[in-house]
Amino acid sequence: MKKLFTLTLGALLTALLVAPTPVSADEGMWLPSQIESQVRDMRQKGFRLKATDLYNDTAEPALSDAIVLFDGGCTGAIVSAEGLLLTNHHCGYDYVVGHSSVESDFLTDGFWAMSKEEELPNPGLEVAIMVRMENVTDAVNAGRRDELIETASEGGRYRVQIKPLYYGGEHWMWVYEVFTDVRLVAAPPSAIGKFGGDTDNWVWPRHTGDFSAFRIYAGADNRPADYHPDNKPYAPAKFFEIATDGVKEGDFTFVYGFPGTTQEYVTSDAVRYIVERSNPMKIDLRTRVLDIVREASEADRATRIAYAARQASIANAWKKWQGESWGLKRRGTVARKTAQEDAFREWAAAPDPADPSKPAHPEYVGLLDSLAAAYEKWEGGLYLNEWFNETFGMMGALGTAGEDGERIFSEVDRRIAVALLEGFADWAPRHRLPPTFTRALDSLGSYQAMAADPEGLLKLREDIWAEFDVPRVGSFNAIPDIVRWYTPYMRALREFDTDRRFYPDANLTLRITYGAVAGYGYEDGVWHEPVTTIDGIVAKDNPEIYDYDIPERLRDVLVSGDYGRWGVEMNGRGTVPVCFLASNHTSGGNSGSPILNGRGELLGLNFDRTWLGTMSDVEFDPEICRNISVDIRYVMFVMEKVGGAGWLVDEMTFAE
Ligand code: ARG
Ligand code: GLU
Repeated sequence: MKKLFTLTLGALLTALLVAPTPVSADEGMWLPSQIESQVRDMRQKGFRLKATDLYNDTAEPALSDAIVLFDGGCTGAIVSAEGLLLTNHHCGYDYVVGHSSVESDFLTDGFWAMSKEEELPNPGLEVAIMVRMENVTDAVNAGRRDELIETASEGGRYRVQIKPLYYGGEHWMWVYEVFTDVRLVAAPPSAIGKFGGDTDNWVWPRHTGDFSAFRIYAGADNRPADYHPDNKPYAPAKFFEIATDGVKEGDFTFVYGFPGTTQEYVTSDAVRYIVERSNPMKIDLRTRVLDIVREASEADRATRIAYAARQASIANAWKKWQGESWGLKRRGTVARKTAQEDAFREWAAAPDPADPSKPAHPEYVGLLDSLAAAYEKWEGGLYLNEWFNETFGMMGALGTAGEDGERIFSEVDRRIAVALLEGFADWAPRHRLPPTFTRALDSLGSYQAMAADPEGLLKLREDIWAEFDVPRVGSFNAIPDIVRWYTPYMRALREFDTDRRFYPDANLTLRITYGAVAGYGYEDGVWHEPVTTIDGIVAKDNPEIYDYDIPERLRDVLVSGDYGRWGVEMNGRGTVPVCFLASNHTSGGNSGSPILNGRGELLGLNFDRTWLGTMSDVEFDPEICRNISVDIRYVMFVMEKVGGAGWLVDEMTFAE
């Protein structure tokens, strides 16, 4: 009796201590047209709308009408009746750079249009709004793919895509209206939009104002039109209202946007490859490059500028892979998957109750062996591709064109090239180098000598590439010989694991994911609170450190204490919320996605995940996987108080 009591009390205490609030972390990236299946669960957690408010295939406006695929790789949210669009600063970055010069450096100073006339056109920038989506599996299987696309495009009015889901188990069609006159409206200084730089990237606590504003323009008929000064602001079918209640731990949230790529159903073979071979190789090679760039950038400002964009993109994935590997190891994903696979094999081979001389699922017996054999066969080829990309591929981006069009390496380029040549040799599979490479090294004598001849390196690159007789593939999921086993495996998994909620892997199509505002604990004894404020910016501010040197204007506003209507009372003091964590299952591509409350009002913009939680592209760990958003109140605060662009704030609608 006594023992039972102690146990129960112990369990109760543990439950109370371990979970400060009930965290309802939710795995899954759901198709808007199938969200009905989740709405019951969502409503229990705080969702207040109907499935048809999110998406419907009638003419009735839905929130999906207010979301855009931005520039083919990010998401944006429409926030006014005049086509005003919010996305991340890092999504609009290239366009801000494009409008910048030495005299008007919008990256450093920020850009704030003070009227529509001052908004800047961006040739090449497109935003796509999804008009509808449809399951077309039967028609595709009947060979009517082209015909479907032809009909749905309505004579070129729409862009139509058909993509497989569940490794070809289903085929879906997405129809988009694509706008090409998209103008830059506002971008904060990088010291706000990229505050914390690569130091804070993927990290919590975070204080980045990662937003920028654009506006969609259309022809007189409100349809897409190429840039013309007479085009008028696009009148959307729907736009997001700005939430006024803010966020607190435990609040329901959902993220509506375009996650790019996940691989949640891959077998232990694929995860082992990621953790043991691919990530260690890529991380090490990039560490070598980044070390050189960092040292050179610290020594020389011009070098920092010249390498800034490349450095940011190299470092972004480099850092992500590290977090992903840690998270997968901590979770024991390889072992967990292996155990699931053992159970699957048993299930498939168990005697059929109707005829015990036969297996219950004969069509699935041996399936995992076929998959394992396919991985074994293709793993070497994928490794070659990745290894080559990270070395000779990376070298392709080095150097500038000389007067005669020949390639010239700077001193830093040369050092990077040497490091990559060394890295190429160090990471050669089973220490077997391509003969062409060895011959070049033998004849020139050293990596330094090889790097001294950029043209020779380019030639060598082509020769080595030609020498590899492997298909050019970027991932296992692009290898038909592997995918063909996943098609039946996915079907089998759904029969085998009837408790699991299946959703299709991300493929840069519109998805809904839901969760709650939630902190997390990774290390023993450390709990991360889910909300940051400007107090953290003041604490990090340091003119000596490039990543933490905030603009003077922001410093002044922070000191003044005049936060206007964006100020809130927290911990007994006036402050402004900056970023918050939630348990939504997001991925790359979700940058700029609206994060919404139960009424569908805009709470903020998603822009990142926590470092150790980036494993969610492979396995979602509800304990540690969190998405990071910038609070819409900080966005408004910066627009109005730092940018002086109150006219944009006035254009938006604030929820009652
Ligand atoms: N980690 C975010 C993403 O994956 C933000 C990247 C941009 N920021 C940066 N400091 N590089 O895209
Ligand atoms: N920053 C990422 C992007 O550009 C989003 C963060 C993530 O990968 O979750 O889409």
